[in-house]
Amino acid sequence: MRVLSGIQTSGTLHIGNYFGALRQHVALQETGQAIYFLADYHSMTSVRDAAVRRDYAREAALDYLACGLDPQRAVLYRQSDLPETCELAWILTTVTPMGLLQRAHSYKDKVAQGLQPDHGLFAYPVLMAADILQFNSDLVPVGQDQKQHLEMTRDIAQRFNAAYGAEVFVLPEPQIEEAVAVVPGTDGRKMSKTYGNTIEMFAGKKALKKAVMGIVTDSTPVEAPKKTDTCLFQLWALFADASEREEMFARARAGGLGYGDVKKDLLERLLDFFGPMRERREELAARPDDMEDVLRDGAARARTLATPVFEAAREAAGLGLAKP
Ligand code: ADP
Ligand code: TRP
Repeated sequence: MRVLSGIQTSGTLHIGNYFGALRQHVALQETGQAIYFLADYHSMTSVRDAAVRRDYAREAALDYLACGLDPQRAVLYRQSDLPETCELAWILTTVTPMGLLQRAHSYKDKVAQGLQPDHGLFAYPVLMAADILQFNSDLVPVGQDQKQHLEMTRDIAQRFNAAYGAEVFVLPEPQIEEAVAVVPGTDGRKMSKTYGNTIEMFAGKKALKKAVMGIVTDSTPVEAPKKTDTCLFQLWALFADASEREEMFARARAGGLGYGDVKKDLLERLLDFFGPMRERREELAARPDDMEDVLRDGAARARTLATPVFEAAREAAGLGLAKP
């Protein structure tokens, strides 16, 4: 079984990325041939600074390794080290209906937020389809927000196979971790780099404290009962087990629990949880050449896995010299 996923390197990774993506990625490296990549081509839809782009990709590589990604077991590569993906994206774009892309929630959301749409943002799901289909991936672990992109990928794969009468692409299945479908941000909306409402995984203690203390709460007095379906309690619950959760929620409902105390406890839990990973990250960051070696080796292995699929797609579409 081939597992494939990517993370867009358009900012510093946050705990939504960890619980919605990275944690599953690391767990899945035990199950099959896992391939993960740093989506720097995708970052071009929002980041316009070359040095910043390079940095984000490097930082994300360190994050993956710090979280336990084992480069001996899984393939970790930088998307732009495999430029063939862009050729496949073109091939796929010619079988992608405009209507399919016009229905994409992510595109509509970003336009609604006031982002100036360009063709890259519009065509983003086709590049994502190429990322996935080039490896004949079976399983794609992603957060809930990416589910529609997976449906689009399956649709595009089927259209190519039907257009050229060849079973070139495998239809991938999404894997969505329902338990933590969406991690809320500090303002109650989905945690996202775009909204500036994140708690970064590896921020310093001071910055973490600032983010946690800034979590939006209402003005319910300490003595009054509290609702537990709020972002503060949901964030806290990510770091608690079932019995701790039950106890805390009962205290909240009973009244007498202050939001400030919950925030303090959340900060401690955050520091404990990411502490060992932070140490490992510091060691890795001190050896940047080793990390680049991991990415170089990852790209070579990714190319080996993708080449037969690229060749089959070119052959089916009649591109280049015919195979003898
Ligand atoms: P962002 O919204 O911050 O730009 P991305 O879109 O780059 O994050 O997401 C990278 C991965 O992390 C995806 O698999 C996505 O589903 C997951 N993810 C991002 N934000 C969250 C969240 N708030 N809750 C759960 N998963 C998330
Ligand atoms: N679009 C994904 C995101 O924003 C990142 C991504 C790009 C991806 N290509 C992918 C995820 C392929 C899984 C598979 O999070």
